[in-house]
Amino acid sequence: IVSKRAYHEKVVDHYNNPRNVGSFDKNDPTVGTGLVGAPACGDVMKLQIKVDETSGQIVDACFKTFGCGSAIASSSVASDWIKGRPMDEAASIKNSDIARHLSLPPVKLHCSMLAEDAIKAAVKDYRQKKEKA
Ligand code: FES
Ligand code: FES
Repeated sequence: IVSKRAYHEKVVDHYNNPRNVGSFDKNDPTVGTGLVGAPACGDVMKLQIKVDETSGQIVDACFKTFGCGSAIASSSVASDWIKGRPMDEAASIKNSDIARHLSLPPVKLHCSMLAEDAIKAAVKDYRQKKEKA
């Protein structure tokens, strides 16, 4: 059992040292962009993936989040987790996994939902681009 305080430190750590902040060229055919907003608070998250065309693996990820600390921490965790994973596996990451990892309180659950939605949207965007190409 990890103490509440230890959980909280994870949020603070990801908030202070967010991993993978940045952006890729959204017109790059190997890039998928997910842009989602939280109706509950108006916060916005942009998450991008770079995909290896042959293997379908996510080789790199980055994000920009205009939102609360929990949303920033959630996108930081999400971007870390999806790197090196096949797209389907990444898209199956649940917000509850992220929320548990960061020990988000119930009122902050929608912040991790933003990250789940952003991953799915990025994968969808990549696939739609592929179909059009
Ligand atoms: Fe907007 Fe969370 S309510 S920062
Ligand atoms: Fe709205 Fe965190 S994303 S409060």
